[in-house]
Amino acid sequence: MTRPRCDRTAAWAQLQGISAQYAQGFELRAAFAQDAQRFAAFSQQAPHVFADLSKNLIDAASEQALLALARETRVEAYRDAMFAGERINNTENRAVKHWLLRAPRNAADPDSLAVHETLDAMLAFAERVRADTAITDIVNIGIGGSDLGPQMAVAALDAFSVPGKRCHFVSNIDGHELAAVLRGVRPESTLFLIASKTFTTLETMTNARSARQWFEQQGGRDIARHFAALTTNVEAARAFGITTTFGFWDWVGGRYSLWSAIGLPIAIAIGAEGFRELLAGAHAMDEHFRTAPLAANLPVRLGLLDVWYRNFLGFTSRSIAPYHSALRRLPAYLQQLEMESNGKSVDAQGQPLPFGSSPVLWGEPGTNGQHAYFQMLHQGTDRVPVEFFAVRDPAQALPGHHELLLANALAQAQALMQGKADPGGRRNFAGNRPSTFFLLDALRPASLGALLAMYEHRVFTSGAVWGIDSFDQWGVELGKVLASEIAKRFDSGDVAGLDASTAGLLQRLRPGRA
Ligand code: F6P
Repeated sequence: MTRPRCDRTAAWAQLQGISAQYAQGFELRAAFAQDAQRFAAFSQQAPHVFADLSKNLIDAASEQALLALARETRVEAYRDAMFAGERINNTENRAVKHWLLRAPRNAADPDSLAVHETLDAMLAFAERVRADTAITDIVNIGIGGSDLGPQMAVAALDAFSVPGKRCHFVSNIDGHELAAVLRGVRPESTLFLIASKTFTTLETMTNARSARQWFEQQGGRDIARHFAALTTNVEAARAFGITTTFGFWDWVGGRYSLWSAIGLPIAIAIGAEGFRELLAGAHAMDEHFRTAPLAANLPVRLGLLDVWYRNFLGFTSRSIAPYHSALRRLPAYLQQLEMESNGKSVDAQGQPLPFGSSPVLWGEPGTNGQHAYFQMLHQGTDRVPVEFFAVRDPAQALPGHHELLLANALAQAQALMQGKADPGGRRNFAGNRPSTFFLLDALRPASLGALLAMYEHRVFTSGAVWGIDSFDQWGVELGKVLASEIAKRFDSGDVAGLDASTAGLLQRLRPGRA
């Protein structure tokens, strides 16, 4: 599908004009004072997620121009191509169908039937593990999308977790991580899940081999009972010796895979019903994204806001502030989702981009962040849009805590916007600093599913406007190749051909060196 490049559209030029006016002083406080309807106009209820965008540096003119940009770059046609199963991941020549993993069964679609067959089998397995009191520890070995999604979701849905099962996540090739987990488990009561889309990733395969070796050394015999593989490469898993396998498909990107067999740790933690609720929440957001008009389409509005901030107001990062400790892994998960998807400097045709793409995402749960880096957010020289996530109903009953948590979230967003005048003084808060506020009634499988799907489609939207392939990740390949070359040099000590810095560091790091 050919689509006009965003910077060659009339809307782009119009947005440049509007942003020049903003540079002369767009004031959030004044915008609220002038427009009693601002909150209503720039907030919206989408499935399970309420979003308040009104404290952002936008107005009707910029939003209209951004919507025109989406139309000119044919975001809707591109979205429809994704939902039609076209191969929009053109550099890998693959369809992009993670949305199908959460869609109801469609008897007319062989892919849907395969999805549900695997889902049913995986959920039945999850229920057997939950009922098996001899299994107390689940160790998920995977990295990137085969770790961050399940790890984040298991923590987020802790309130729904089955008692008596501990979930551990081992991702790093750093043996300290696996060793620490193995110290606390026993072979007869542990289930290892080897999660890898490709079943070739160095970290995961190294950890999987070490886990199997540990299991056998400890007298473990029944690999079939104590190891399962979650992968598109079922043959490689079998060759590894694992007979319990749950597959998925090349049209599921790693960072979009928690809805697939990669979600097995989530299903074990929250059960089949909970997992189906997670999928249903995501599906509700898929339907919203697929059908809502652009102006009332939350992922579209968010993706366009990201384009506006990155390309017209010059913001290079965004801070993620979940005011719920169960969402503590959300920033790391979103980092992969957005930065691996849109951290590209060429378009889908391989042409260099003359404009910025993915911002840096970073953050910590509130209120911890307030006592670390919020100083910079309030008074630093850079303006960083902040995203607050709050949940109305707590999953704990300690008196007073939740109100104070929510009050802090609201107060931070308010302070960023309002500021406080102390002209020239150290206590001056300039204010006018943008934020978005996401609100869930409760943190439960459906609302988490909707929130994550909202984010996926937001990333889709900004990537679509920028004209990049959001579904490949060539940028991680070079480091992998170089690491395997350098690993060989650890044995030989050969530094020939290396740059002086790498050679010097390698010599110092080789085992046994003083
Ligand atoms: O190196 C990046 C990456 O390919 C991610 O995209 C992916 O989620 C991760 O590695 C893990 O890959 P796999 O699931 O194939 O082990």
